[in-house]
Formats: sequence, structure tokens, C-alpha cells
Amino acid sequence: MALLFKGDIDRGGSWERALARHAPELELRSWPEIGDPAGIDYALVWAPPPGLLAGLPNLKAIFSIGAGIDHLASDPELPPTVPVVRMVEPGLTTGMTEFVVMSVLYHHRFMLDYLAQQRARAWREISQIGPQERRVGVMGLGVLGQDAARRLLSFGFPVAGWSRSPKSLPGVTSFAGAEGLPAFLGQSDILVCLLPSTAETRGLLNAGTLAALPRGAAIVNSGRGDLIVESDLLAALDDGRIGGATLDVFAEEPLPAESPFWDHPRVVLTPHVASMTIPDSAAAAVVAQVRRFEAGQPLEHVVDMARGY
Ligand code: NAP
Ligand code: GLV
Repeated sequence: MALLFKGDIDRGGSWERALARHAPELELRSWPEIGDPAGIDYALVWAPPPGLLAGLPNLKAIFSIGAGIDHLASDPELPPTVPVVRMVEPGLTTGMTEFVVMSVLYHHRFMLDYLAQQRARAWREISQIGPQERRVGVMGLGVLGQDAARRLLSFGFPVAGWSRSPKSLPGVTSFAGAEGLPAFLGQSDILVCLLPSTAETRGLLNAGTLAALPRGAAIVNSGRGDLIVESDLLAALDDGRIGGATLDVFAEEPLPAESPFWDHPRVVLTPHVASMTIPDSAAAAVVAQVRRFEAGQPLEHVVDMARGY
């Protein structure tokens, strides 16, 4: 049984070691040395060149190295009948929850203001409010959003979530669908965006929806860059309607040198590193799925490609 691996070059070695440790019986074919395409059963990939997967006639399943599958959906030749499985593994979930908690606390504790004061050598207290007065809204209550929401609750923040379908999570107020969006936004002092990029979510945060947030709200986007109309966010930051933003993802990556986000005083940015798939725990998850599938059981976390996630 052979698995094609195409990840990023830097971390290829860790993946090879992890896969060999968890499944010594699996023959690993690292792109571009793929050998006989007909001998490949599974693919574990990030941003494969368009057409690569279509050239594997006996492929049984495609595993995405990331939680997002937009890097696959953009391949016009993606084999339509081969199941696509998104990455769900504890290392990726924990990393995202760390990033979200860190970012929410950063805005809650006025760190953008204190950083500006530090640069101005100003020693000035800002009166702090308690977490119970800071409402956090998590957009996207999937695997990552739910874990982050649970952790945020433990700090005492009132937490609400927005998803396509209603959720019943202890302590989390659920809003769903287009009809639930205005009320959800209206009560999000800090908005965390953990949605996938799909035909329905692209451009969802625009001048109209940003205006529905409480004045001075902060935004944390660690979902995908194209969820936000960047020019609308910049305008809202410039006039103070949005008080600050932590941005990990952008419409164009790497972020172009001329982007106003780089030196905007109300923006903290990171280069798409909110969370990363950890080869060891992810290899264990993929190998468990392969074994389950080979034993005739269904795959978990299969993407509905028509829905886009
Ligand atoms: P997931 O489990 O598939 O959850 C997606 C959530 O989004 C679900 O709650 C879903 O609602 C909701 N959703 C999707 N379309 C919607 C719509 N049109 N309206 C309302 N809600 C909608 O995904 P995940 O594993 O949590 O990952 C989420 C995303 O995080 C990924 O797709 C990826 O883009 C991003 N990500 C970023 C990084 C990074 O480093 N920056 C790392 C990992 C992942 P339902 O529950 O009702 O279906
Ligand atoms: C990273 O962006 C992922 O989708 O896992």
C-alpha cells in the first residue's frame, strides 16, 4: 500500500519519520518522486500542483494536510469521486486555541494601546473591565471554533458562536444562518473568525457586516483572509469603528510589501501561523483513518465539496 506525500519541503523529513513510525507497512512516495502512479492508494497533500491527483488512477482517498481544503478545491482537475478528508488532529486544534486565547486576551487587556504608550514613553493606566463584560463571538463553531469557545469560557468571557446549523454547547449562546448573523455580530465585542473559505463565506465581513459590530470591537481572523474585504476593514480601523485587529491570514499571501496592514497602529499580524499541523499527531490520525478504511469502515471528516468544507 503506497501513500503519496506532498507537503512543504522544510517539514518533509519530519513527516517521513512520523509516517514510518506509525505505519512501517506504508510505502511513502514523496513528490515529485512518485514512481508508478497506478500504485498509489492514498495522498496526503498541501497545495498539490493542479492535475497531480487526477493522474493517480487508483487513488482511494485524499487527505488534506490542513484543516482548510481551499488549496485542493482550486484544482480544476481534482478527481470528483475520490473522497477528500480535512485534517483533524489534536496538535492543530491545540495550536489554534492557544492563538485565539492569546489574541482575545491581547485585545481584552488593551495591549495595542499599551504598546503605543510604550513607544511614546507614556506611563498611563487604562481602566480594565472584567471578562464578564467582554462578549466574545466565535464565527465558525466547527472543530477549531468549539475548542476555542470552551477555553474562552473558562476565562469568564460570555461566549457566543455562529455557524450554519444551530449548536448546543454548554455555556455557548448559539446563533445560526443568515438570519442569526446581525444579532450575533451586534453582541461581539471581540469577534474571532474561524470559518472556512467557501463561496458563501468569502467577503462575509464587509462594510455592512462590520458596521453591525459594537463600535470599537476587535477582530481576530485566523480562518482565511478572503473572509474579510480588506479595504472595508482598513476603512473601519481608520475611523475607529473597529478598535483593533489580529490578522493571521490575508487575501494575498505572503502579504504584499505595500499593504497598509504592515504598519497600521491598530493591527497585529502574523504570517499564517495561527496553527500548524503537527506531523507526529497528524500521521497517527491519518494512519488510523487508512486502517479504518481498509477494514471497510467509513472515513471521518470527509469534506462536502459542493458545500466547500
Ligand atoms: P470545520 O470543523 O469544518 O468547521 C467549520 C465551521 O464553519 C462550522 O461550524 C460550519 O457550520 C461553519 N460554517 C461554514 N460555512 C458557513 C456559513 N456559510 N455560514 C455559517 N457558518 C458556516 O472547520 P475547522 O476544522 O474548525 O477549521 C476552520 C477553518 O480554520 C479552516 O477551514 C481553515 O480555513 C482555518 N484554519 C486556519 C489555520 C491558520 O493557521 N490560520 C489553521 C487551521 C485552520 P456548521 O457547523 O453548521 O457546519
Ligand atoms: C491552515 O491554514 C489549515 O488550513 O490547516
